Amino acid sequence: MHQYLLEPRTGEPFALVLRDLPDPSPGPGEVLVKIHAASLNYRDLLVRAGRSASGGSDPVVPLSDGAGEIIALGEGVADWKIGDRVALTFFRDWISGPFQMAWHGAARGGSCDGVLSEIVTAPAHSLVAIPSTMDFAEAATLPCAALTAWHALMERGRPLTAGETVLCLGTGGVSIFALQIAKAAGAKVIVTSSSHEKLARARALGADETIHYLETPEWDREVWRLTGQRGADRVVEVGGPGTIERSLNSVAAGGVVSLIGVLTGFEPTPATLFTLVKKNASLDGIYVGNRGMFVRMIAFFEQHAIRPVIDGRFSFDDAPAAYAALEGAGHFGKIVVDL
Ligand SMILES: NC(=O)c1ccc[n+]([C@@H]2O[C@H](COP(=O)([O-])OP(=O)(O)OC[C@H]3O[C@@H](n4cnc5c(N)ncnc54)[C@H](OP(=O)(O)O)[C@@H]3O)[C@@H](O)[C@H]2O)c1
Repeated sequence: MHQYLLEPRTGEPFALVLRDLPDPSPGPGEVLVKIHAASLNYRDLLVRAGRSASGGSDPVVPLSDGAGEIIALGEGVADWKIGDRVALTFFRDWISGPFQMAWHGAARGGSCDGVLSEIVTAPAHSLVAIPSTMDFAEAATLPCAALTAWHALMERGRPLTAGETVLCLGTGGVSIFALQIAKAAGAKVIVTSSSHEKLARARALGADETIHYLETPEWDREVWRLTGQRGADRVVEVGGPGTIERSLNSVAAGGVVSLIGVLTGFEPTPATLFTLVKKNASLDGIYVGNRGMFVRMIAFFEQHAIRPVIDGRFSFDDAPAAYAALEGAGHFGKIVVDL
């Protein structure tokens, strides 16, 4: 089988190398998954740069997110059968319950092998069934970006309710899933972007209000105006130090800022956290989610006929071009590699 490996190089981004290996066989409690599609997340760029919180320093098979079919069962596997269509979980061993730091030791495509491989060996507990209504490419977009948005809006604290307002920053994977989930839950959604074309696409997906964050650099004031001086009940904060202050300004009294991303870098945040105190608002750190959340999310996607937005597809041989496309940030939603 063929598989990519990210190899650390001193002082440089990791190198993406294609290699040919004998097909693996599953150990006890494991299955083999023939991967049909994988998707990229901004985190995969961080892993390649050696900067992900759930990355490692050893050579690793990249990408956390993939879907395929089971082609072999190890001894003792009773929950799956050959031919089952599955997606893999981001945290291999976080099945349910609260997060434990130990789960960082097996984050796919970072601290343990990921899915950019024709065949993947996986513990049977680290898979979810995918609905017949979803193709492999769509299912491959779910494990990281979709689950993070779902966890933030529907699992942590109290679930989002109809009529609340959600602010989504930018139009990448997490933010577009947040838009789709929030609309299905009956919320109002405000989307920001650096592109008018992407804002038009967000409106076509249901966004109620849009803001061009380059033309309106004080976008927090605009959020305030658009919400009748109330603010957004939920802020999906994917920007990090360059956006956090305005995200805190944008949240409504009693609202929640979900702290998710680092699109603007890793500098110490200059934000005035006291803003949260004034508003009785909360700041929730969100790191993907567990298998139980994933199963509930898939049921919600089925119920509301949510189709992941795939903006670019690349062949397995062309996987380096998929990285380049993600880095170029011209995408809206997700980028997929077909295997
Ligand atoms: N904590 C977690 O569990 C978790 C999970 C997934 C992702 N993340 C993090 O969340 C972030 C988003 O990940 P992703 O995979 O969705 O990224 P992505 O698909 O690569 O998103 C890229 C988009 O982000 C937008 N963006 C960039 N800078 C921005 C800014 N200053 N303000 C507003 N939007 C900006 C741009 O949208 P426009 O082109 O529309 O301007 C850009 O196209 C990353 O930092 C990632 O590491 C964290």
